[in-house]
Amino acid sequence: MQVSIIGTGYVGLTTGVCLAYVGHEVVCLDTDPAKIARLERGECPIYEPHLKELLAEARPRLRFTTSYEEAIPGAQVIFIAVGTPPGEGGNPDLRYVRAAAEGIARHHTGGFTVVVNKSTVPIGSGNLVDAILRESYDKHHNGAKPDGKFAVASNPEFLREGTALHDSLYPDRVVIGSDDERSLEVLYTLYRPVLDQTFEALPYLPRPEDYGAVPLVSTDLASAELTKYAANAFLALKISYINEIGMLAEKAGADIRQVSKGIGLDARIGTRFLQAGIGWGGSCFGKDTAALVATAAEYGLDMPIVKAAREVNRMQRERIVERLLAELKILKGRTIGLLGLAFKPNTDDLREAPAIDIARKLIERGCRVKVHDPVAMDRFALEYASLDVIRCKDANEAAAGADALVLVTEWQEYWELDWHAVAGSMRNPFIIDGRNALDRARLTRAGFKYRSLPE
Ligand code: UDX
Repeated sequence: MQVSIIGTGYVGLTTGVCLAYVGHEVVCLDTDPAKIARLERGECPIYEPHLKELLAEARPRLRFTTSYEEAIPGAQVIFIAVGTPPGEGGNPDLRYVRAAAEGIARHHTGGFTVVVNKSTVPIGSGNLVDAILRESYDKHHNGAKPDGKFAVASNPEFLREGTALHDSLYPDRVVIGSDDERSLEVLYTLYRPVLDQTFEALPYLPRPEDYGAVPLVSTDLASAELTKYAANAFLALKISYINEIGMLAEKAGADIRQVSKGIGLDARIGTRFLQAGIGWGGSCFGKDTAALVATAAEYGLDMPIVKAAREVNRMQRERIVERLLAELKILKGRTIGLLGLAFKPNTDDLREAPAIDIARKLIERGCRVKVHDPVAMDRFALEYASLDVIRCKDANEAAAGADALVLVTEWQEYWELDWHAVAGSMRNPFIIDGRNALDRARLTRAGFKYRSLPE
């Protein structure tokens, strides 16, 4: 099929590359010429494992452009995968979605096209896109009626950064929603190679064992839109729940890692997203839980559970600072090393990253903050140039002379550090393992006073 994707961020680019790989002809559009130039040279503007290789593999069926004129006519399916940054009062800012819908309507010349919202947009946004398409079509086609030209659908994305390709090619399910039957059929055809797993698996993206046909959930528009929020909020509250239990475990002398395993092996609960620690960051959980609360408020509904999950997550970051204060007694003038900046390993994404929040809190308290991340340093230097921290070339440099270290992101390379040497280089070998990722016995042997969150 002829597919166009507007926006080449994590979602758009991954979707484009995967759809091209499974056999469709894909045009990726972005208004940023520098991004498009890089993609044309075969470079990847985002850090995502194996994306560069898959991009090269799918290259014969991929085109990149900055022009709507090139991307829109002839497309049977157009994905809107633009950014929806946090806006006023918890609702996401939809200006790029609006712009994309206008661009589509203005340059549409062909027959029936399904316009798919892939960005996370509030319930009702499908209707908004539909209204913009109709209005702009009218305006740019000398009053011609858009009837039968478009149908709007929602196809929420569940990929995680760091495992985006795996999640797209081997999803747990595909959700499509529309109030128009034809567009559901078009999307079914589009996803057939993924649903039936007819494409060839690559050595670096092996098909999981016992992986069969992929369930398709076909719904009305509003249900698909709500599914995305409900899924993300549930995952966020699962993490906040284990963190809440973790604080009680600490007081009661229980080990949260064992408790987590003990409850997670109940198939009804599941072991995933039960890892206690600093809590969640990233572009989705914070924004989506805020949007859910804001949308509910528009209907006069309170969302006490979702609100509490947000509050617990906020408190976890605060607790790192409290823990440092309890150990060091005075924070002013202390040097604190932060290991990890990205909101999780295997990405350079810093959106809502706990490390940024913690660095700010420590600076406010008069600390010198040294930071390191294996992948996100360049992006950090660019996006947080004014944050008054010392950027270090490796973990050893971040630790040297420090009064405390905090493991904020559980990058694998930190497990393999020579912890004995690290402890020896610090003024005070104290570490808070914010992810429950390190080996307490090993670090204690290396000379550390080790604390985790929760203990
Ligand atoms: C998330 C959803 O998982 C994905 O389905 C959706 O499409 C986008 O949002 P992502 O933000 O890439 O994906 O990251 P994810 O792997 O879900 O992790 C989110 C945050 O939760 C990270 O900060 C991670 O460190 C934290 N986390 C995750 C925990 O603290 N404990 C866990 O057990 C799991």
